[in-house]
Amino acid sequence: MVFYRKDQESQQLTDEERRKKKMKWTIGITAFVIFQVVQALFFVLVIMKFKSPKFRVSEFDIQSLNVGTQASPSFDMTFVAPIRIKNTNWGPFKYGASTVNFTYGGVQVGQAIIPKSKANFKSTKKINVDVTVSSTSLSADLKSTLGNQLGSSVITLKSQGELNGKITVMFMFKKKKTSRMNCTMEINTSTKTVQSLHCD
Ligand SMILES: *[C@@H]1O[C@H](CO)[C@@H](O)[C@H](O)[C@H]1NC(C)=O
Ligand SMILES: *[C@@H]1O[C@H](CO)[C@@H](O)[C@H](O)[C@H]1NC(C)=O
Ligand SMILES: *[C@@H]1O[C@H](CO)[C@@H](O)[C@H](O)[C@H]1NC(C)=O
Repeated sequence: MVFYRKDQESQQLTDEERRKKKMKWTIGITAFVIFQVVQALFFVLVIMKFKSPKFRVSEFDIQSLNVGTQASPSFDMTFVAPIRIKNTNWGPFKYGASTVNFTYGGVQVGQAIIPKSKANFKSTKKINVDVTVSSTSLSADLKSTLGNQLGSSVITLKSQGELNGKITVMFMFKKKKTSRMNCTMEINTSTKTVQSLHCD
């Protein structure tokens, strides 16, 4: 009788143990699956999220600026344009040679050459380019607009450019991306400074 009960007890214990073991396995497998899903989600949502690098001109000092008068409007300006390519991706962005056009009223007044290179992962590539802008190619209409702007001592310039390149994540996942620059800057002709600079 005693023996029988003991036997039953040990039988119960092994059942309990088996259940615990099974539970452990279930928890282990579930945790592993969750870990895999989280990892896959992280990979897809963070690592594999290819974003166009930001391409812009940042604040700069004007080296020289000569302007005409309201009656005889013109400008000549030199500066070092700090071109910035901000790559937030988890891989380098390799881009081809390009140009940044400085325009006044839609007409090109200067240019900056961007040599072929790359912006490393999670970093900003900095290129400083000497730029000369001049009003010589402006039409009569634009010259009269310029005359009005000079009357209020301001010149509005735009810089536009396009970088075509490829982002490579983890050495094998590649995606082509185009970064567009579209900046507008107001030059104060009395202080000879960049009064405002705004990029899309
Ligand atoms: C810049 O100007 C050149 C011509 O001088 C043109 O081929 C190019 O498309 C222009 N780039 C942009 C982004 O407007
Ligand atoms: C550049 O930005 C201005 C606004 O700041 C916008 O009106 C214009 O359409 C943009 N041009 C391009 C080519 O994206
Ligand atoms: C140019 O800068 C001066 C000094 O900061 C300021 O008084 C003037 O209003 C500015 N001009 C324009 C057109 O904003």
